[in-house]
Amino acid sequence: MEKKEIQGYPHILYRASNLSDGQILENSDTFLQNMLQRRSIREFDRQAIPHEVLRNIIQTAASAPSGANKQPWTFCIVSDPTIKRQIRIAAEEEEKLSYESRMSETWIQDLKPLGTDWKKPFLEEAPHLIVVFKQSYGLDKNQKVQHYYVNESVGIACGFLIAAIHQAGLVTLTHTPSPMNFLSKILNRPSHEKPFLLLPVGRPLSKTYVPDITKKSLNEVLIEY
Ligand SMILES: Cc1cc2nc3c(=O)[nH]c(=O)nc-3n(C[C@H](O)[C@H](O)[C@H](O)COP(=O)(O)O)c2cc1C
Repeated sequence: MEKKEIQGYPHILYRASNLSDGQILENSDTFLQNMLQRRSIREFDRQAIPHEVLRNIIQTAASAPSGANKQPWTFCIVSDPTIKRQIRIAAEEEEKLSYESRMSETWIQDLKPLGTDWKKPFLEEAPHLIVVFKQSYGLDKNQKVQHYYVNESVGIACGFLIAAIHQAGLVTLTHTPSPMNFLSKILNRPSHEKPFLLLPVGRPLSKTYVPDITKKSLNEVLIEY
C-alpha cells in the first residue's frame, strides 16, 4: 500500500473508483430506488436475525465520519426477552405521560396521521433492539477525552445504521421515547453515555400497514446556485 507522511503523520493512498458518468448515474439511481422503499415499521415478526448480520449493520454505522474521528458512540444490541420487557414497560410509562400531559396539542395533532399512541408492543415483539448512546466525552485509562460535534456525529452514524438495516432487507423504527434516561439504568451504561435512539430491528410482520404519507418534492428541498 502506497504511503506518505503529511505534517509528520502517516497517510495512505485512497483507492479512487474512477467510474464514468454513466456508472455513477446508475449507482446513484439504484441506491435512490432502494432507499425510496424504506419505511418506518411498527409491527415486527419475532424471528431472530443472525448475529453476524447485526454485527455487520453496527460495523457499517461505526464506519461513519465523526468530529476529529472521535467516534463518540456506543451501540447496544438487546435480544434478551426480559430486558426487552423492562425497556417496553419503562418506555410505555414515559410515553403514557407524554401523550396524556407532556406533548403540546400541535404535536398530538401532527402525530395523528401516523396512528401512534403510548403503547409500544414492538419493543418486545421485535427480535432485537439497538440502543444507540452518544458519548459526551470519551474515557482512555480513566482520562477524559474531548469529543466534538457529538450530536452531528451520532446522527450521521444513525443514518448509516438505518440505511444498513434497510439495505440488508430488514426494517426498523427510529424511536425516541422521551425522556430516555431509563435506558442508561436498564443497560447499566456509564454517566458519560447518554441514550440517543432506540431502534427495534427485524423483519416486518408479513402484513403490516404504514401511514400513507409523502416526502417533499426535490423542488421544495433543493436550492441550486
Ligand atoms: C428523530 C426521530 C424520532 C422519531 N421518533 C419516533 C417515535 O418515537 N415513535 C414513532 O413511532 N416514530 C418515530 N419516528 C419516525 C417518524 O414518525 C417517521 O420517520 C416519519 O413519520 C416518516 O416516516 P418514514 O420513516 O416511514 O418515512 C422518529 C423519526 C425520527 C427521525
